[in-house]
Formats: sequence, C-alpha cells, structure tokens
Amino acid sequence: MEKFIIQGNNKLKGEIKVNGAKNFALKILPAAFLSDQPLTVTNVPEIEDIKRLLEIIEDCGAKVERLSKGKYKITPPKRPKTDLSKDLVPQLRASILLVGPLLARYKKVDLPHPGGCIIGKRPIDQFIKAFESLGAKVRCTKTKYIFEAPQGLTGGEIIFSKISVTGTESAILAASLAKGTTTITNAACEPEVLALAEYLNTQGAKIKGAGTPTIEITGVKKLKAGKCKVIPDRIEAGSFILMAAATDSKVKVSNCNPDHLTVPLKIIQDMGVKLEVGKNYVEVLSAKNLKPDNIATHEYPGFPTDLQAPMAVLLTQAQGTSEVHETIFENRFMYVDMLNRMGADIKIDNPREITINGPVELKGKELESPDIRAGIALVIAALMAKGESEINNIYQIDRGYENIAQRLQKIGAKIKRV
Ligand code: EPU
Repeated sequence: MEKFIIQGNNKLKGEIKVNGAKNFALKILPAAFLSDQPLTVTNVPEIEDIKRLLEIIEDCGAKVERLSKGKYKITPPKRPKTDLSKDLVPQLRASILLVGPLLARYKKVDLPHPGGCIIGKRPIDQFIKAFESLGAKVRCTKTKYIFEAPQGLTGGEIIFSKISVTGTESAILAASLAKGTTTITNAACEPEVLALAEYLNTQGAKIKGAGTPTIEITGVKKLKAGKCKVIPDRIEAGSFILMAAATDSKVKVSNCNPDHLTVPLKIIQDMGVKLEVGKNYVEVLSAKNLKPDNIATHEYPGFPTDLQAPMAVLLTQAQGTSEVHETIFENRFMYVDMLNRMGADIKIDNPREITINGPVELKGKELESPDIRAGIALVIAALMAKGESEINNIYQIDRGYENIAQRLQKIGAKIKRV
C-alpha cells in the first residue's frame, strides 16, 4: 500500500497551479450521453474519482479517448448499456449522475447501490423524488435501483426538501430532454451547477436561473455536444490557500477563480492571514498572530463543507478558542483524533460540532486518511508538524488531488510517496 512520508516544519514557497474541478468534471462527463455527438472536455483533473467514472462510462459502451493530459473525448454509442456496472458503481457515489442523461434518452436505468467513501454512503431520496417528479417510476431491490420512464420523461415541478448539489445537477441533466417545462425549487447554487447549465445551453438546452434557488428548464428534443473546459477547482484552491496559511508560507495559488471563494477568503483574512487577491490567483503573504473564529459550513456561497477539515487545521494555530459547526454532513470529524494525537486540543462536542483551542505545536505521527478532504487536512497538519509523519490510505487523497506529492514538492514540501 502506498503512503506519504512528510518531513514537516518547513516553509513552502513559490507558485502552485489549481487543476480543473473534480466536482464539475464528474457532471460534465456523464452529460456526454445526452447527445449522439462526441464531447471533448479539457482541463479534466486526472484523479482516481474521474478514472472510476470514465471506467463506468466506457462500460456503458462509450468510446473514451485521452487525447492529451487532461483532454478527453467521449463518443457515445448508438445504444449504451444502461444496466450500470455492479463492480464499479459501488466505488463512486457520483455514478448516480449517469442516471439523468441515460433515463432521459433511453428510458430505463439500473443503478447498483452507489457507494464511495464513508461520507459517500448517503441517502438518494432527493434524486428519486426529482426523477419521480419528471414522471419516472423508481423501484429499489436488494441490489439496485431501477428507474423507468417508458413514455419518456415529462417536465414537472421539482421541490427539493433538502438542498442537494448532485441532486440539482441530476435534475438539470434529466429535464433538459424532458417533454415540457420543469421548475426546480430550492436548487443548489454552487458554481458547478451554473457551469453545467451554461455548457448545456451552448448545446441547445433551455435552462434559466441556474446559480439561483429557482431554475426553469424547457425541455428540447435534441442536444448537440462540443467542447467544454472544466472550471478551476475551488476546493483545491482553498485547500492550497489554507495549507500556505497554516505553514505561514508565501505561496501563490494560481489558475483559480477567487470569486468562487468569497466567504472562505473573508474568514481567512479576518483571522489575520494576509492575502493578495488577483483576478485568477490568491497569494498568501503571511499568517501570524492568528485570531480564532466560529465557523459553520453552509451551502454555496457559504463556507464549504469540503474546506472544513483544512480550516480546522489552521484554527489549531489561532490564539484562543474556535468553534466549527458542520451543518452538511455527519462523519466529517474523523480527522480530529489524529490531529489530537499530533498535539492538537480539539474536543468533539457532538457529531456536528467541535471546539478547537490554540495555538499548539503539532508533532509528526503515523496517520490514516479517512476521506479526501480529511486526507488533505492531514497533509497540511503533517507539513506544519515537527518531525516526520506517515499518511496511510492515500487512495482517499488521490481521489481528489492529482499528483499531489510532486506538485507540493515543487513549492518546497518535503513529501514523498513510497
Ligand atoms: N442528502 C440527502 N438525500 C439525498 C441527497 C443528499 O439526505 O438524496 C443529504 C446528504 O446526506 C447531505 C446533504 O444532503 O447531508 C447535502 O448533500 P449533497 O447532495 O448536496 O451532496 P452531494 O451532491 O452528494 C456534493 C459534492 C461533495 C460536497 C457536497 C456539498 C460532488 C460529486 N460532491 O456532494 O463533495 O461535499 O456536494 O457541497 O459534487 C468532496 O468533493 O469531497 C465532496 C464530498
């Protein structure tokens, strides 16, 4: 099993480029099945989650070509297999994003219970209700979900009782080809939702209001497919900014869109981190005498749950007591025990809240990455810590961050993959 060995307590320096967004690429690649034309996507991050999705897309019969680094061409088959792989789907919750396009065009999809990491195993009730609102019948057997719409999908009223990012994206994908008009109420407003709608509109879809809580979609008969560039990964950008701040380093995080990070950047600056924010970069200048803060994760544009763990690591360096309230997911404090073993003073008050006392000095330890975002948080902690750390289960980090050891080495991190 591969692991990272990290020598901590040294400053980082230089520039690190942000890759394409995992959580956009995972939506745009399934959109290939909405059209009979090939789709070429650039700036695709070459990470494990994308590799799994491409395997599933290939298993459905599409031709997947890697034209160059980060550039993929997907040619959909005349008639794809819509009985999704029972070996691959349980490895990736985002496989559910294939249901909307396949159901809209081919009227039946069999989806084995989708899985993923620990937080990946979560309910799919919002998706089911959305597809039902578009006229689909959904059955659940011991091993899979069966989605059927023998007459095709029809526009309807989708009201999400809980905001769901992939739920909203699935509804957009499916409703684009449904007969009639669909309204989505309580939609997710994440930049990835807007980017998906913008791409589909360039291919002939009629989607209005994406990026707001109310979306209206007028179904069309056919969609073209063309070229799409994956938007920058705001979570990777935020992770690198927090990494630079936590190690009090001067690092320029480039190729990103700071407009997608307005709230986290405000919080980081209020703590006392000095930043220079450009049009497509954020440079961390210094991070001294940090102030504590109280943070609650929130749907976009609020503080993203995917930056909660890296933020907690930074808060261990603030002078005083901070609180972090996780409102989106349970099971997202699995890194706390490990940070405490490294010398942090963090108390889990309940499954949704922690209290962090700082500042503390962290010491290198043997660690285990529980999920993608907790994994990068442990990398940050190890880079700050005195001595050597070993991080195991790095598949979880590779799921979301491409070639992370090499990229961090370039900014002076002493990290190696063994
Ligand atoms: N939920 C339900 N029922 C559903 C769907 C969601 O109860 O049918 C709950 C979830 O359990 C969670 C909340 O609703 O408590 C929000 O979940 P959401 O559906 O919005 O999450 P998601 O779409 O599955 C995406 C990202 C996550 C990110 C969340 C929140 C992708 C592929 N994943 O997940 O990214 O944390 O939105 O912003 O877009 C990550 O990248 O590490 C990651 C977990």
